[in-house]
Amino acid sequence: MKHPEVVFQDSKFAMYKNHPDKENIKWVHMDKEEYLEWEEEFFAEALLFEPFLIENFYSDEDFKELQEFLQSKKLSEIAYTKQMNKWEDHIALPQKFIDIAIDNVRKALGTDDVELGYYLFAHHQITEDGQKPFLQVHLDWSPGTYMVDLHLGGNRDWSFIAHDKEFITKPNQAILVQPEIDLHYREPWRNDDPNEYYQAVFFHLIRKRHWKNKHGFEFQADENFLRFQKQRLEMFEPFYFDLVDSIPELSPTTIGDDTGLTEDDKRILGVEKA
Ligand SMILES: [Fe+2]
Repeated sequence: MKHPEVVFQDSKFAMYKNHPDKENIKWVHMDKEEYLEWEEEFFAEALLFEPFLIENFYSDEDFKELQEFLQSKKLSEIAYTKQMNKWEDHIALPQKFIDIAIDNVRKALGTDDVELGYYLFAHHQITEDGQKPFLQVHLDWSPGTYMVDLHLGGNRDWSFIAHDKEFITKPNQAILVQPEIDLHYREPWRNDDPNEYYQAVFFHLIRKRHWKNKHGFEFQADENFLRFQKQRLEMFEPFYFDLVDSIPELSPTTIGDDTGLTEDDKRILGVEKA
């Protein structure tokens, strides 16, 4: 891995102190006092930085091995999510790939406080019934203070936008972002070619003081956590769309249509395979 230049900063966006119109915030899901308590816990001991690209995330030899391992899996054995129209699953990797990913992030950020939240393999391709993959604007609700978005393979680009930065990657390049903090999305799929596909591996990494460590994965269903997340979106999402519109170089946002999806359709982890 080449050591990138990391620009540490206070997150420019989804934090109360950065809100551009504090007087007019609508406290719909929780009041300001409660929100600020949640926010403090949410950001405690998290490093904030400009999203950046890491070249040569694995050695050539390891990357080839990882590609062969994951690309040997049949799509029919990988869970499919209608929320983003993609095949995505936890496929147990040899431990060294996880260790290297964590070590690379520790080195890049200059901290040992990085550990595994979870990881997924994703294959994006138009389905037989013509459904296109998409990744709409969102903040992650699942545990990942830091996320490695590793370009694994495929035969097309699919750019990724985090806050105000857009990345077009090559295989074995990884983007490091803070997906619980920076709103992010991918450019629209654009193409109707059913043969085009794009594959990635996502390592969601956490710090020790992350509430997944306190409460397990159940925190995602906690009523107060959900109110906090809804309040954040209420406060920041409209401004994010304005921000993207104000930067002509950025690809347009993608809006997903969740109408008609059940909660089971929107699985995040651990779905029973059909
Ligand atoms: Fe995400």
